[in-house]
Amino acid sequence: MIGISKLSLGAGEEEAVLRVVRSGQLAMGLETQDAETEFSKRLGGVECIAVSNGTVAITLALAAMGVGPGDEVITTSFSFIGTVEPIIQLGATPIFADVDLRSANIGVDGIEALITSRTKVILPVHLYGRPVDLAAIRAIASKYNLAVLEDACQAIGASDANTGGIGSSGTAVFSFYGSKNIACGEGGLVTTDDRQLAERVRLLRSHGSIETYRHALVGYNARMTDLQAAILRIQLESLDRVTAGRRSNAAYYHESIHNDALFLPPGDDVTSVSCFHQFTLRLRSKADRDDLQAWTTEHEVETRAYYPYALSSHPVIEDLGLGARCDNADALSNVVLSIPVRESLSDDERKHVADVISGWEPSNS
Ligand SMILES: Cc1ncc(COP(=O)(O)O)c(C=O)c1O
Repeated sequence: MIGISKLSLGAGEEEAVLRVVRSGQLAMGLETQDAETEFSKRLGGVECIAVSNGTVAITLALAAMGVGPGDEVITTSFSFIGTVEPIIQLGATPIFADVDLRSANIGVDGIEALITSRTKVILPVHLYGRPVDLAAIRAIASKYNLAVLEDACQAIGASDANTGGIGSSGTAVFSFYGSKNIACGEGGLVTTDDRQLAERVRLLRSHGSIETYRHALVGYNARMTDLQAAILRIQLESLDRVTAGRRSNAAYYHESIHNDALFLPPGDDVTSVSCFHQFTLRLRSKADRDDLQAWTTEHEVETRAYYPYALSSHPVIEDLGLGARCDNADALSNVVLSIPVRESLSDDERKHVADVISGWEPSNS
């Protein structure tokens, strides 16, 4: 089976883990600081705060922005649940914007109508590694004096022609969970060009501690361990190669997959240079999606629906009375299917994937 995700770990990571084990310092040592410095260098000098995972990175960033009970956060209706849990856990209310069918990203045109006197933050997601139109979202935010927090958990290595590399300006969060383009098992990063915000995130990350056993606010234990950081530093060295490999596979699919029964994801445009965390097909119906998935499984290609439910229609969201009608997100949840695009695919493997998708005919047409 040609899998969707496969961790690439080698001698460098092995060596790094041994180095940490031998140092006797598994947490709060130099590895985490070095990882932060290296990410900062890569992202043009922004503040970088390494944390235990991407979900907690969102929590800390929102908390540092002052989000709490009574506030509203406008976000996409189509993402992983980790985008929205922090909003609810902080006592605020997620307001779901419908998505654009073609990109599956938040529909920028629908955001303004959702803004109220309670809105504090716009939280877009660069889904599948494809950046949203940040310049447009930032323009709306500044018109209404709102903060923007980018969920870039899937978008390390992506960029935007107007604003540069994702994470190099504004405030964003990344995830380094095992399935991400670069990974350390569990890990997250907050990046920001706002020094004061960075200081608040640092405080919140470690129990609100201002000096040893002296605490200025109620924080979290959200630190990254040195084991995670040491692996991540090696993974960061491979980011350009990984991104180029994924983009090359995506370009190959754009050229080589020919099938009128499905739509390929958009390629680059001026506001969006994707790192292709996923290469996601769009089918005409749920029956077709299920049919194609059965076909790919039969032909030893793993495919997955990211995501089979819209955020706005999960039982937990409906039970909390937070559900919203988001027709495009509901429609997409029935018709999306991601195929392997990872950089470690061999030429034969990616040709096989393209041939299998091109050779599929809907059985119910
Ligand atoms: C879009 C999105 N948001 C948030 C998260 C949460 O990140 P983590 O799993 O590191 O907590 C993920 C990844 O899993 C994600 O893909």
